[in-house]
Amino acid sequence: MGRGARSLESAATEESWWRSATFYQVYVPSFADSDGDGVGDLEGVRSRLGYLELLGVDALWLTPFYPSPMVDNGYDVANPRGVDPRFGDLDAFDALVTEAHAHGIKITIDLVPNHVSYRHPWFTEALGAAAGSQERDRFLFRDGKGEHGEEPPNNWVSAFGGQAWTQVDEPDGQWYLHLFAPEQPDLNWENTDVRQDFERTMRFWLDRGVDGFRIDVAHGMAKPAELPDMDLRAATSIGGDEYFDPRFNNDGVHRIHEFFRSVLDAYPGTMATGELWTFDDERFGRYLGPDQLHLGFNFRLVLTHFDADALHTAIDQSLAAPLRAGVPATWALGNHDIWRQVSRYGDGEVGVRRARSMALVELALPGVAYLYNGEELGLPNVDLPPEAVTDPSMPDSRGQSRDAARVPIPWQDNTPPFGFSTTADTWLPMPAEWAALTVESQLEDPSSTLSLYRAALELRREHSAFSGSEIDWYGSPAGCFAFRRAPSEDDEGAGGLVCVLNTSASPVDLPPGELLLSSADLVDGQLPPDAAAWLA
Ligand code: GLC
Repeated sequence: MGRGARSLESAATEESWWRSATFYQVYVPSFADSDGDGVGDLEGVRSRLGYLELLGVDALWLTPFYPSPMVDNGYDVANPRGVDPRFGDLDAFDALVTEAHAHGIKITIDLVPNHVSYRHPWFTEALGAAAGSQERDRFLFRDGKGEHGEEPPNNWVSAFGGQAWTQVDEPDGQWYLHLFAPEQPDLNWENTDVRQDFERTMRFWLDRGVDGFRIDVAHGMAKPAELPDMDLRAATSIGGDEYFDPRFNNDGVHRIHEFFRSVLDAYPGTMATGELWTFDDERFGRYLGPDQLHLGFNFRLVLTHFDADALHTAIDQSLAAPLRAGVPATWALGNHDIWRQVSRYGDGEVGVRRARSMALVELALPGVAYLYNGEELGLPNVDLPPEAVTDPSMPDSRGQSRDAARVPIPWQDNTPPFGFSTTADTWLPMPAEWAALTVESQLEDPSSTLSLYRAALELRREHSAFSGSEIDWYGSPAGCFAFRRAPSEDDEGAGGLVCVLNTSASPVDLPPGELLLSSADLVDGQLPPDAAAWLA
């Protein structure tokens, strides 16, 4: 299988391929459906590798395709070393890895260590076993409070809303912890079976040739032994950094990352990116480094509105911790849990213009970029009818579920399912207005969002101005910013790319330099509002 066959020489030069890579997140259920059941699958991904190569991405992140009752769209894993029949089988996975590598595209997959599905055999065994047994010890079972144990063991709430404990329907009446849905019991990482099983899982996929993992809820896993009550205000403050939140970011988590890293280090050229919802620089930095994660998602850009000053601050803060840790920053503007950027920035035409400008900002920044499938088409959120929604999390304050950003990709044709599937009964309905947003309709149109992404990714890959792991800021008019890629002491190459963003209401002059790309046409040589430009 893949890895064993690689020569030592190619392993050495390929080892840090991820340091400036562009990853593309394939939300497997929504990317491409090869068998007509209305759900995307691995064979569908394989059939679209040509597109991904044309787009110009370096690596894929495949969201979970493991056997699962799909309560949380696969983030409820019933068997971490298999493929759910709706997504294909192991042969389809192997074929995808082999073919992606032949296209020069790396494959990374999700590792979900905080919890499993309630249909995982361990959980079934735990329910049938006595309180205090080995079987229960793989999870966090506790007696309830109150005279008859009728109250949960503590006041923790689930990230999806509601209490984080469910009482079992067994004579002992114990409760188990689930930081997400009740169908996602949390694992006890103090139990050695858990560790051994994850090592097996990682090796299973690494031996099949995967190039790395995206680690789900990488700030979770470790729980303090006494399980103290949380400050409930933390439940509504994203990242939970201001209030006492013992659910996440416990010190013990770093021993778990040390362990993941030791497994990865035996497979040169592999890596892991952690999903880290933490905004405290010191704490964030502790997740990164030679015995921790290679990369950690930074979500500050996602949480920042379209305002040059606020974005400038978010970028500086995002760079601080990774630079200190000697690892690249990891940027994202969206993913399957977050509103699509077109809708975040205002929807309609203005939302698209701003999202296009932010793509140039993201792809100009030093480090790693993660694109979420469909952002290269400028897809907005979809306002789904409530009966179509499958997401178990509570709708947000605007009444939308995460499914709004998970609608299948429109590939071609003028009507749903737009080449995504052969059935119009797709797992989430596709809006008829997406006819104008299909890959087919954008591919040859030089003004399309897809063409902008392709041009940007090509420059990012090929142009020498994109080197340099730091940035210098220029003074700029109100509502604008400009930064330049700058080399740090040990960088090779001179950098020099200048990125200008205009979030103001008036056109602005550009600094001198050769215009490489802009997200909107210049007007009389000036950069219009809601636009960004690259100069060298
Ligand atoms: C992560 C995933 C999200 C999932 C949750 C629980 O945040 O990105 O989709 O619901 O973990 O696994």
